[in-house]
Amino acid sequence: MPPVPPLPTRSAARSAGHPDTRAVHAGRADLRALGVHVPSIDLSSTNPLPSVEIGGDSYEALATGGLLPEGGTAVYQRLWNPTTGRFEEALAELEGAEQAVAFSSGMAAITACLLAARAEGRGHVVAVRPLYGGTDHLLATGLLGTEVTYADADEVDAAIRPDTGLVVVETPANPTLELVDLAALAARCGDVPLMVDNTFATPVLQQPIRLGATLVVHSATKYLGGHGDVLAGVVATSAEWAQKLRPVRAVTGGILHPLASYLLHRGLQTLPLRVRHQSDSAGKLALWLAEQPAVERVFYPGLPDCDPLGLVGTQMSAPGSVLAFSLRGGYAAAASAAERCELVTHAVSLGGVDSLIQHPASLTHRPVAPEARPHASVLRLSVGLEDIEDLCDDLARALA
Ligand SMILES: Cc1ncc(COP(=O)(O)O)c(C=O)c1O
Repeated sequence: MPPVPPLPTRSAARSAGHPDTRAVHAGRADLRALGVHVPSIDLSSTNPLPSVEIGGDSYEALATGGLLPEGGTAVYQRLWNPTTGRFEEALAELEGAEQAVAFSSGMAAITACLLAARAEGRGHVVAVRPLYGGTDHLLATGLLGTEVTYADADEVDAAIRPDTGLVVVETPANPTLELVDLAALAARCGDVPLMVDNTFATPVLQQPIRLGATLVVHSATKYLGGHGDVLAGVVATSAEWAQKLRPVRAVTGGILHPLASYLLHRGLQTLPLRVRHQSDSAGKLALWLAEQPAVERVFYPGLPDCDPLGLVGTQMSAPGSVLAFSLRGGYAAAASAAERCELVTHAVSLGGVDSLIQHPASLTHRPVAPEARPHASVLRLSVGLEDIEDLCDDLARALA
């Protein structure tokens, strides 16, 4: 069988210019030549094979983690899909990564990273808490055959063992927005790949690959989609790691559906505008919340006491639009405030155009061990694109 020649050609054509310009044009360089203004959505679950040999060569390339060979065929949607490929190309460009691999959810993306590390005989993970409850739970249960050691960011090097395959961190962290100095952490990781969950910051505010991360994970369900209508995950990484992730995705069936990929690719075009506007509003709301008598403490990276290392303005270009706050009345006050919001929807998730509020200890962080679970008095608020006065009015009513 002849060797499969490498592609992809389109990713060579990276968009030039300011990141905002790239967000609009990334993954679209060939559209004009195709005579279309927006990408087509390819929904084929299977593809006609030009010949057994081309089909076989393409299958071999895709199933072993390669890209679509020149003149090849996608074969079967679980292996690859051109619409998904476009979103991957665009996201990789925004993160400053060589490639990206898209999954059916953020948890599927994290699962693939853990399985790929474990497949190399390195099933030990060092994780920095706090983490999203689902990630914490997946690591703590060892469901995938991994073993976790939780460590503070400045003690990660001491926790690394010969079989450590990944260091896992979120910054800002879900739900209480702690920040970790990524360049310092990457230095402590040595040769061990650093996986950064960049869901809260997005590539608009922070690009972990430039700071030494190997794998940048997103729950694309959040800001990348931005409208609450897509469940997705993506990993931006090196070509070498993408080659390890794709076979895991192919065998576990975690690839992202093309319709979702199309919506995410479109979502990236407005990502910088949404993220910056929402971050501005969250900054104002954090200051307003800090003055409310019912509020005990506000957790927001834009407040000086939440950013002791001064990472906003250096590592992150702005503090982002998720904040948390604790209420003096404890659990009862928090539950009542979440339930009394009207404009702000009482719902899990975050990063969309509309504001959401939820009680992490009861919901997103319920599976976390009690000693690491957020306090029962804490609510998490994802600030959307609504007018700031309207948001304050709604929260004032809910807190009264
Ligand atoms: C920071 C973070 N990472 C990962 C996930 C998991 O993503 P998904 O719900 O898309 O599987 C979430 C979900 O809330 C999250 O907030």
